[in-house]
Amino acid sequence: MDKKLSRQIAIITGASSGIGAGVAKSMAAEGAIVVINYPVPAAKDMAEQVLQEIKAEGGTGMTYACDVSKEDQVIKMFQDTIAMFGTVDILVNNAGLQRDAKFTEMTLEQWNFVLSVNLTGQFLCAREAIKEFLRRGVDPSKSKAAGKIICMSSVHEVIPWAGHANYAASKGGIMMMMKTIAQEYAPQKIRINSIAPGAIATPINHDAWDTSAHLQQLLKLIPEKRIGQVEDIGKAAVFLASDDADYVNGTTLFVDGGMTLYPGFEDNG
Ligand code: BGC
Repeated sequence: MDKKLSRQIAIITGASSGIGAGVAKSMAAEGAIVVINYPVPAAKDMAEQVLQEIKAEGGTGMTYACDVSKEDQVIKMFQDTIAMFGTVDILVNNAGLQRDAKFTEMTLEQWNFVLSVNLTGQFLCAREAIKEFLRRGVDPSKSKAAGKIICMSSVHEVIPWAGHANYAASKGGIMMMMKTIAQEYAPQKIRINSIAPGAIATPINHDAWDTSAHLQQLLKLIPEKRIGQVEDIGKAAVFLASDDADYVNGTTLFVDGGMTLYPGFEDNG
């Protein structure tokens, strides 16, 4: 059977660990040539490890260092990818981080850092991706769309999160940026959607599941009573990037085990 993303070039930002690494593996397994972006030299080894695992399974791609909050670096990442592989078919706008603090103690630096990576980074990458999609147009041998963008959002695009105002604001911003650019470029056959993960076991939320007491506390927030795995997100990303989702545009797919279902009301209210 044909793989769902055969020969498609996918840039996945923040792919040296966590959800990004999982998405890179899932997409590579479906035939995509993956650009495993990592943010800083210190993450190079982890990115190379992801690439090695992909190659061991018969996949292919390259690693690429780029701070997505820096315009010149993002432009160069797209130029270099196009020089190397010819084009870009898929962008997974995944890079994101947390710098948590009570609101009255949050520094401007913490605010700006989170917004610049999580939101401005997605803006810069999406802009370069869309320019390339418009230049190339639809290549029917690969996909019905001229290009696909998947924005990694969070359940916190709708769930307020005390102590994380910068992060929640960035995810709310991603939701409206995603919908707006989906509306703007749907006529050109570009599809732009978000995935809103709930609690997925990755380094970003290690403190929430590292002990069984913490995990029990976390599971109270998840009707399915299990923490998510990066494969749960990888499968959703493959679907949204593939022609199976050809009529899906401008929407957020929640992959959260029901976290957004007001679990506090399970036996009350
Ligand atoms: C955050 C995690 C958190 C999850 C559910 C994610 O967006 O990055 O730290 O566990 O949302 O609250």
